[in-house]
Amino acid sequence: EVWNPSGKYRVVSTKSMPGTRWINLLIEQDCRLEICTEKKTILSVEDIIALIGDKCDGVIGQLTEDWGGTLFAALSKAGGKAFSNMAVGYNNVDVNAANKYGVAVGNTPGVLTETTAELAASLSLAAARRIVEADGFMRAGLYDGWLPHLFVGNLLKGQTVGVIGAGRIGSAYARMMVEGFKMNLIYFDLYQSTRLEKFVTAYGQFLKANGEQPVTWKRASSMSEVLQEADVISLHPVLDKTTYHLINKESLATMKKEAILINCSRGPVVDEVALVEHLKQNPMFRVGLDVFEDEPYMKPGLGEMKNAIVVPHIASASKWTREGMATLAALNVLGKIKGFPVWHDPNR
Ligand code: DGY
Repeated sequence: EVWNPSGKYRVVSTKSMPGTRWINLLIEQDCRLEICTEKKTILSVEDIIALIGDKCDGVIGQLTEDWGGTLFAALSKAGGKAFSNMAVGYNNVDVNAANKYGVAVGNTPGVLTETTAELAASLSLAAARRIVEADGFMRAGLYDGWLPHLFVGNLLKGQTVGVIGAGRIGSAYARMMVEGFKMNLIYFDLYQSTRLEKFVTAYGQFLKANGEQPVTWKRASSMSEVLQEADVISLHPVLDKTTYHLINKESLATMKKEAILINCSRGPVVDEVALVEHLKQNPMFRVGLDVFEDEPYMKPGLGEMKNAIVVPHIASASKWTREGMATLAALNVLGKIKGFPVWHDPNR
């Protein structure tokens, strides 16, 4: 699909993206925009090299693509100066290789914070109250009357929510769970972020002033403290060498038998084989997963586990957010091409 065929700058988007704002921005700024309409979901390096062609000023790409040295070399050879991931995470992008080939890299933080946190909260509630299991039970025609034991789950109020990685998304999720459900909070963050501290302190004062029962909170000095103490644990770190398989056989064994684990970050943060085994051994342990180690696949057995809720990487999938991500990705690429600041550069 080609927009503004006579535009001076050739920009390629490897996927169609929601909304029209991003398209208008590019064509108003004299870009010829080519949107790949290839039906297959995941493009290979060869597919993308073909899209880049002989002349290409910038590319908007997706987290399913492997943006390493080969692609940045091809883009640079075609005269390209800009690449933006349509995602906040950029573990699929080799930023050093991009720097080496003189290609600026952008990502799309901010617009997906609340949407992603809302999915983590939804999965937490769905797991605690066994909503997906109960829905399947109804649809299977198995409900034959109210029973005191039917789908008894956990009350979140008064339980402890644990957050690993208290950046933008982790902090927004913590706020939702503390403010919305009066959960106590324990969190661990490598980057000494003070976002949450400010919120919980002010919220504690508010509860006190209103004569309400206070919530407790603490900043843990290690991740294992969170795993041991929390009832619901949500993972929000970036994926890098240090967070690969952060949750593994050993760390799972330290968690409460009835804990809930939520992952809306990146699949490889959790050792999925160990997780399946843990779910089998501990039927009261529950997980809500938005991401998987080898997307689009799940490790054998995961799909059969009643104590697992699995959704297909949809944490940022609200209309407002996806349109915002597309717009930021276009702004990133335009910034470099037109010489104004790249909207968001993960190097900064
Ligand atoms: C991201 O942006 O990194 C999410 O995984 C997809 O929205």
